[in-house]
Amino acid sequence: MARAAEGRIGFAHRVIPGEQLRVFASARKKGFTRATRFELLERSPERVEPPCVYAGRCGGCDWLHIEYTAQLRHKLGLLRDALSRVGKLDALPELSIEPSPRALAYRNRIRVHVEQGKVGFREFGSHDLVDVVSCAVAAPELDRALSRFRAVLAAQPSLPASFEAELRVAPSDDRPLVRLSIVPGNNLLAALEQEFVVAFPNVPVESVQRFPFASGSWLTVPADAFVQVNWELNRLLVEALVQGAVARRCTRFLDLYAGAGNFSLPLLESGLSGVAVEGIGSAARAAGRSLSELRLPGEVVSGEVGACVQRLLEERQSFDLVVLDPPRSGAAEVVTRLGRLAPRHVAYCSCDPVTLARDLRELCAQGFSIEQIRAFDLFPGTHHFETLVWLRAER
Ligand SMILES: C[S@@+](CC[C@H](N)C(=O)[O-])C[C@H]1O[C@@H](n2cnc3c(N)ncnc32)[C@H](O)[C@@H]1O
Repeated sequence: MARAAEGRIGFAHRVIPGEQLRVFASARKKGFTRATRFELLERSPERVEPPCVYAGRCGGCDWLHIEYTAQLRHKLGLLRDALSRVGKLDALPELSIEPSPRALAYRNRIRVHVEQGKVGFREFGSHDLVDVVSCAVAAPELDRALSRFRAVLAAQPSLPASFEAELRVAPSDDRPLVRLSIVPGNNLLAALEQEFVVAFPNVPVESVQRFPFASGSWLTVPADAFVQVNWELNRLLVEALVQGAVARRCTRFLDLYAGAGNFSLPLLESGLSGVAVEGIGSAARAAGRSLSELRLPGEVVSGEVGACVQRLLEERQSFDLVVLDPPRSGAAEVVTRLGRLAPRHVAYCSCDPVTLARDLRELCAQGFSIEQIRAFDLFPGTHHFETLVWLRAER
C-alpha cells in the first residue's frame, strides 16, 4: 500500500513494504488505485525466489515471495494494526508469534476446482484456473493425493463441466478423503473409490479421519467437519490453550464454535469439566462420541451458539472460562452477551485479526481486560494466521 502524490491510496499485489515500483497501468477504483502492471525499481531484502512454480499467478498463497521470518514480522504488524485501528486497543501486552514447524508442505487439506480438464486453484483476482500439478504447501501425502486425483480424472472419458473437490489426509488414513461438490456419476465414483474415501452431497459418509493430540488421544473428524489445516502447529495452539486454562485454575468451560472437539477434548482430559457447542451436527456427534469413549465429564450441544448462550443464561449456568473459536466473520452474535455468563476468563482464538479486534473492543467495553496475545502461524506463505487472546474479567 502506498500514498500517491495527489493523496490517493494505491495498492499493488505481491509488493513488500519499502519496495519502489514504476507503475505502467492501474485501475482507478472508488477511493483508491490498484497497480495492474508495474516493474520493481528497488527490491526489498526480504524478497526471495518463491519456492513454487505457480507463485504470482495462483491465488492460493500470496506471500511465498517473502522470506519466512519477515512473513512472521509482517503478520504481527497486521495484528497490531487491526487491534489499534479497528479495536482502538492501544495499551496492549507484548505480541508474539509462534512459527510453523514447517514453512512449506504443512497442509492436510486443499480445495481444488475442476474445469475443462484443469485441476487447480483460481488465479489471483480472476475466475481463470491455474492447472496445478503439485502444491508447495500441501503435505507430501496430500500432494500425492492430488496427483492420484488428477490421474483418475484424466482417465475419465467425460467429466461434469465444473466442480470443486476438497482433498484431505490424516495420519489414520489408509486412503485419503475427497469431498466433491457434486453427486458423481457411477463411473467417476467407482474410479475415485479405488483410491479415495469419497464424500458428496446428501450422502452421509460413515468413515472419519483421526488426528493425534500430544496426549496420545485422537480428534475424530467427519468428512464435512472443520479441521485445522496445519496439524503440527495446531497441537501447540491446543497446548497453549490448555496450559493457559490450567495456570488460571479454570474448572468449568464453555467451548463455543467447538468443531469436533479440538479444544474441548484436551481441556476435559486435563481435568476440567465443560460444555461444547457446535453448529454442524456430524461434528457435534463426533465430539460426543469421543467424550463417551474416553469417559470424559463433558456435554456436547449441537446447535447455534446464539440460541445456546441464551438458554444457558436462562438456566443461570456459570462457567469460569469461555472459549471462542468462530469462523472469519467473528463472534458478534455472542460477545455482546458474554459478560452476563460472568466467566472469569475468556480465551478467544481467531483466524481474522479485523473481526477479532472488533469483538475484543466489545469485550473490553463489558469489563474484560486483555492479558495475553499470541499469534500462531498456521498458514505460512499466506497473509493468514491464528491468534489466541486471553482476557480476564475486571470485576
Ligand atoms: C474455526 S472453526 C473451529 C472449530 C474448532 N474449535 C477447532 O479448532 O477445530 C469454527 C466452527 O464453528 C462452527 N460454527 C460456525 N458458526 C456457528 C454458529 N453460529 N453456531 C454454532 N457453530 C458454528 C463451524 O461449523 C466450525 O466447526
